[in-house]
Amino acid sequence: MATPREIRALELTPVEKAKEVHFKNPPVSFYEALGQEEGMKDLMYDFYDKIYESNIAHFFPQDEDEFDEVKFKNSKFFIQICGGPKVYKDQTKDMELNEYMVRLHDDFSITEKSRIEWLGTMREALVDKAQHVDIELIKEFWNYLEQFSKLTVNTFEDGSTYYASYTQAKED
Ligand code: HEM
Repeated sequence: MATPREIRALELTPVEKAKEVHFKNPPVSFYEALGQEEGMKDLMYDFYDKIYESNIAHFFPQDEDEFDEVKFKNSKFFIQICGGPKVYKDQTKDMELNEYMVRLHDDFSITEKSRIEWLGTMREALVDKAQHVDIELIKEFWNYLEQFSKLTVNTFEDGSTYYASYTQAKED
């Protein structure tokens, strides 16, 4: 079990340009405790509903069908990355899952401010949909998101860009 206060206390560390990022994929026990495919879908659909109310809404498709497609694919990715069934594998061809995901974000100019908004939105979705999950498992999921999301930041305050090379990301 987790309280809203515990979930909202999940911490965020700042991105540092070109610094190596270490992360660990979330454990399958998080996925199972969340409620497997249905639980993950519930969390991700709630997340995207909140994204559309957030200050990063403009990054995402405004067309309803395209938006549905993103929601759907996003849920599949998170099912697979947590060690659930490999329902996203047709998207990635032969690429490693996390590497594919970093490269997919290269098409968008993502700043630290956008990353903070993305993570803050996810934290609120966890408050809505994951209170039945042990806080220690939520922390493991969060640590993955918090670290991995650093690799999606490619645009910096001084206007420069930097696209993280995947070798610079080390999975523990
Ligand atoms: C832990 C970090 C993140 C993960 C795991 C993640 C994961 C995903 C996934 C699974 C998709 C759908 C991919 C598909 O179409 O097959 C996606 C799309 C997208 N994400 Fe992320 N994301 C992360 C962080 C961010 C951040 C910080 C932003 C900032 C704005 C962002 C913006 C987007 C955009 C714009 C799309 C594409 C929407 C479209 O297809 O038009 N993501 N992301």
